[in-house]
Amino acid sequence: MLEVRNLHAGYGRVPVLHDISLTVGPGEVVLVLGGNGAGKSTLLRSIAGFIKPTRGSVLLGGRDITGQPPEINAREGLRLVLDGHRVFPELSVADNIRLGAAVRADGGDFETLAGPVLEFFPILRTKLKSAARDLSGGQQQMLALAQAFVARPAVLLCDEPSLGIAQALIPPILEFLRNWARQGVAVLIVEQQIDVALSVADRALVVERGAITLAGTAEELKQDRRVQDIYLGLTGTS
Ligand SMILES: Nc1ncnc2c1ncn2[C@@H]1O[C@H](COP(=O)(O)OP(=O)(O)OP(=O)(O)O)[C@@H](O)[C@H]1O
Ligand SMILES: [Mg+2]
Repeated sequence: MLEVRNLHAGYGRVPVLHDISLTVGPGEVVLVLGGNGAGKSTLLRSIAGFIKPTRGSVLLGGRDITGQPPEINAREGLRLVLDGHRVFPELSVADNIRLGAAVRADGGDFETLAGPVLEFFPILRTKLKSAARDLSGGQQQMLALAQAFVARPAVLLCDEPSLGIAQALIPPILEFLRNWARQGVAVLIVEQQIDVALSVADRALVVERGAITLAGTAEELKQDRRVQDIYLGLTGTS
């Protein structure tokens, strides 16, 4: 369970986020929408510990982790997958996955940990020995998710998983996140592919100029014209 209470954060003296509150429960997929520069990535980075909030708090399973370094958060079950399908390019696919499991205190055997994700993305299994740099953008995104998956976090934050990948791979990648949540993980996704992302989300919220301006169930937001307007640039979000 992730809880964010009245969070404020920014860069140096420049404030970006204003009074953000949200919760993501186990099994839930919550989507963060918003135009370029609205503060979506800043929100995920502040939750994950890469940016120290100036006010407010972040709770993981009811425990206050505000300002705690990201590597400790990762060990405690809060994981951020950055945008741009970042993996270790020189390492093999298998080693990239093993690195993900390294945060686990108990180690755990590769097949048990990685089996389910390799089943969902069988292409990764055929490339376990390939260097990650030889994968396509979409395959690298699958790998970034596999790396996070084997760490078995309780809360997963995922920044624009569709960024820079082939259109055909976007639905399966979002479907993977939906499935993952079904195992009891709390999933918070930033996405600009609103239609497909709303179809896998339970709830969604819109961030404009660092504040939440709209929130509701995915069904409600699908019907809300303001959501479409944001992406057509009609509300001038940045
Ligand atoms: N490292 C940084 N230092 C200073 N300002 C930053 C930094 N990163 C982002 N910003 C600023 O913070 C604001 C929010 O940026 P952020 O990256 O969170 O937006 P975003 O909603 O993720 O946008 P995008 O859709 O382009 O990914 C923007 O005004 C941006 O210029
Ligand atoms: Mg961003």
